[in-house]
Amino acid sequence: MSGDWLGVNSGFDQGGVRVTTASAPGKTILFGEHAVVYGRPAIAVPVSDLRATAQVEDGPAGGGVLLVAEDLGETYRLDETYDSDTARALQVTVRNTLQFLDISSEEQSLVVRVSSQIPIARGLGSGAAIATALVRALARHYGRFITASAISDLTYQTEIVFHGTPSGIDNTVVAFEKPVYFVKGERMDIFWVGRPFTLLVADTGVPSRTRDTVADVRQQWQADRLRYEALFDGVGQIVDAARQAIAVGDVDALGALMDENQAILRELGVSSPELDRLIEVAREAGAKGAKLSGGGRGGCLIALANGENDSKIATALLLAGAAQVISTVVH
Ligand code: PMV
Repeated sequence: MSGDWLGVNSGFDQGGVRVTTASAPGKTILFGEHAVVYGRPAIAVPVSDLRATAQVEDGPAGGGVLLVAEDLGETYRLDETYDSDTARALQVTVRNTLQFLDISSEEQSLVVRVSSQIPIARGLGSGAAIATALVRALARHYGRFITASAISDLTYQTEIVFHGTPSGIDNTVVAFEKPVYFVKGERMDIFWVGRPFTLLVADTGVPSRTRDTVADVRQQWQADRLRYEALFDGVGQIVDAARQAIAVGDVDALGALMDENQAILRELGVSSPELDRLIEVAREAGAKGAKLSGGGRGGCLIALANGENDSKIATALLLAGAAQVISTVVH
């Protein structure tokens, strides 16, 4: 194997078959979930220690394009119809990417494999990571350069299959692999981190569909727009203060802002007893702040460590029932 571009490798295996692999990170929303759907800013960061991987290899001539979802043990053909979100997402990603590269999908013979360490339906951007890894691997397999912005756009097209009207934050963070300050349809700033900080990302083990919590918040917003708009404004102010705190490396301020954001998320009705309990455990174990991340009602929470108490917080969360705890440095 040789070559290295955005975690991409391309070369020949022992049988002389050309093989290309690429990976992409998970992501977590640091601030601003839900309010971002209503035009307020949000901040999200990559979770570099959890990754999805795609491998593309030349298949036997005339064999068409096979898509192997390794974690599910399923194989799909590009040119057949399946009643499966996974199949559709993989097909859409491959078709759109080949079209973008001006390559006719009918004439290709490929075996495409995807796998992921990122738990699904936990707000960790697993769908975006798989799509991004796939776009990167395909582009490199055909020896083509593709910008992070184009990768992000192609990943967004796949996100639509899963989320209907996604905000665009997942594809942006995952494709750029940088912290992003994001306002839907308006801006997407990659910004400076004054001092690296460590986040513990804890999985409650409870799957939660973002589509459902987003729909619930919309229903409540429709019933009481004034109240919800005010709550979203509060989140927007927290996000702007957080961006400033991150830029100047004020980790204490960051922790307090996470707690404030969590208080509003509770008012929005997207927390859960399980999340509340684990957030409390993290704070008691020394986290500078903690909040749910993503859609809520399950999924993940994030806790801000200070570099000294990481393992104490992680152990406390695991003892309290977290399914998995990942430590990730944001810089
Ligand atoms: O659960 P996640 O990481 O997909 O985050 C969802 C964030 C929301 O603001 C709730 C929805 C969105 O599309 O931005």
